[in-house]
Amino acid sequence: MTIKTDRPAGKSGIKTLAGLLPFLAPYKRQFILAGLALLVAASATLAIPYGFRQLIDLGFTAADSDHASHVNLYFLGLFGVACVLAISTAARFFMVSWLGERVTADIRSAVYSHVVQQSPQFFETTQSGEVLSRLTTDTTLIQTLVGTSISMALRNVLLLIGGLLMMFITSIKLTSIIIVMLLAVILPIVTFARRVRKLSRASQDRIADASGLAGEILNAVTIVQAYTHEKIEALRFGRAVEQAFDTAISRIRARSILTVMAILMIFGSIVFVLWLGAHAVMEGRMSSGELGQFILYAAIVSGAVGAISEVIGDAQRAAGASERLMELLSERSPISSPAHPIAPAARAARGASLHIENLHFRYPSRPDTAALSALSLNVAPGETVAIVGPSGAGKTTLFQMLLRFYDPQEGNITLDGIDIRQLDLHVLRKAIGIVPQDTVIFSANAMENIRYGKPDATDEEVMAAATLAVAHEFIERLPEGYQSFLGERGVRLSGGQRQRIAVARALLKNPPLLLLDEATSALDAESERLVQRALEAAMTGRTTLVIAHRLATVQRADRIIVMDQGKIVESGNHASLVAQGGLYASLAALQFSH
Ligand SMILES: Nc1ncnc2c1ncn2[C@@H]1O[C@H](COP(=O)(O)OP(=O)(O)OP(=O)(O)O)[C@@H](O)[C@H]1O
Ligand SMILES: [Mg+2]
Repeated sequence: MTIKTDRPAGKSGIKTLAGLLPFLAPYKRQFILAGLALLVAASATLAIPYGFRQLIDLGFTAADSDHASHVNLYFLGLFGVACVLAISTAARFFMVSWLGERVTADIRSAVYSHVVQQSPQFFETTQSGEVLSRLTTDTTLIQTLVGTSISMALRNVLLLIGGLLMMFITSIKLTSIIIVMLLAVILPIVTFARRVRKLSRASQDRIADASGLAGEILNAVTIVQAYTHEKIEALRFGRAVEQAFDTAISRIRARSILTVMAILMIFGSIVFVLWLGAHAVMEGRMSSGELGQFILYAAIVSGAVGAISEVIGDAQRAAGASERLMELLSERSPISSPAHPIAPAARAARGASLHIENLHFRYPSRPDTAALSALSLNVAPGETVAIVGPSGAGKTTLFQMLLRFYDPQEGNITLDGIDIRQLDLHVLRKAIGIVPQDTVIFSANAMENIRYGKPDATDEEVMAAATLAVAHEFIERLPEGYQSFLGERGVRLSGGQRQRIAVARALLKNPPLLLLDEATSALDAESERLVQRALEAAMTGRTTLVIAHRLATVQRADRIIVMDQGKIVESGNHASLVAQGGLYASLAALQFSH
């Protein structure tokens, strides 16, 4: 359910946020600008209490001749400070929010483009819905961090330092008392913040679990309904959501306690010190203006401490989120292009040549069972080889190896004389067309679905491929022809129609090596004939491996190989294999009876 087995959260703490640095680095200029705006705004804020004291002590009480003009000047000055504060605050808000959005967008794109490069092994252990949740909710937390928390932290640290400094200038004794009290407050706050972080990661994980569950079920909603599992699935999702809620509430509870502690302790200490200050004024050791100034600075400082404790909470949440995102980003696909790929030489016009030698393969998720063992096969350019064998024999697995979705533990595959591990992954895959067992249709129109095989193909090329694949006619009959939307996963098409779209897509790609995985689903006689014609067109003029379930396909092949338990057990043509009376003969008797 989770990306890696659950690692204990919180080992690395806020340090995980360092993983975000590469994403912040390109925007140094913006950070500097935001920092400047921040500095100006904080200075303006700190200037206000000083202005107040001047007003109280000089403005109202001093009795010299130009008393009134003095007062006017101070009010004007105060308004000027307000103007600076307004503009610099707005500028800081803009810059910092911009950074938050920008960095989040970058992280989303980076994680997504990284995830789509992962080999199938990754998706055997990760639910797509979970990745989606990481991309949306986890990145939102980071947006909060970059877009608000960092600037809040900086602003409040500046206010804290500046405020404390000004407090010291105003009264050393009172400030010293406040500081001792604040230090006593920080320790429990930090301890609690750590707990909030752990709960935060747990909470994000539960949300990802629920998303993963929902993603799977929504993709199979017709099966859910056919088995009348709507209530059961709703309950299952409900439980996942409740778990997410419970975890979130634990986090919120911890955070509330944090808030109570922070406010009570901080205000408590300040009220106490003010009480001391009031006595100092009454005894004439301090002016009332000084006490007023001190009160305002104390308010700023306590506000800053409160805000910082809140920011620490946010940062803890973001650390939990970025930990997961960084895990996703550091996931290395076991399959990648070699550092120095060999460029393929010009190949025979009739198609690619293929040599498979002594292939041994076990799926990483099932290391005890051999999916392929000691499999060797040579295919000449232009040849059509049919592969037959019982279910689970390893036929589809062989195709996965050819596409290099997995690497074999032993043996090798060469395409036109080059080991496929020495080819650039894209060069290899561009040379191969595949029509998979389960056809894949994207939620787009017919035109775009076929064009997937060759993104720069013209409409005419698409239609020519569709005609070859015997799909043109039915597409034309759709309400909007080639522009008809096919529904998510092609739900608006029949099984046979989906297959023909898939064949058209592969034909448009025009690859030298074609891999056809015939669907076992029984099509009616008419669509079977149409799909058959489409496949026939697909096989001409190129090397083709076809996993065959139909007699017509088998008979058209130059050679038939029979697979069982990951090995090639027989090979020959239809007549000779039937005459052998082995596995093929019995399969043929069962499968091709009609
Ligand atoms: N991703 C996977 N992880 C682990 N084992 C797998 C995986 N995919 C397939 N297998 C196993 O490998 C074996 C071969 O599967 P494969 O899909 O190649 O069979 P097949 O010959 O194509 O069968 P069918 O005719 O039913 O499509 C099976 O035992 C299957 O359970
Ligand atoms: Mg298969």
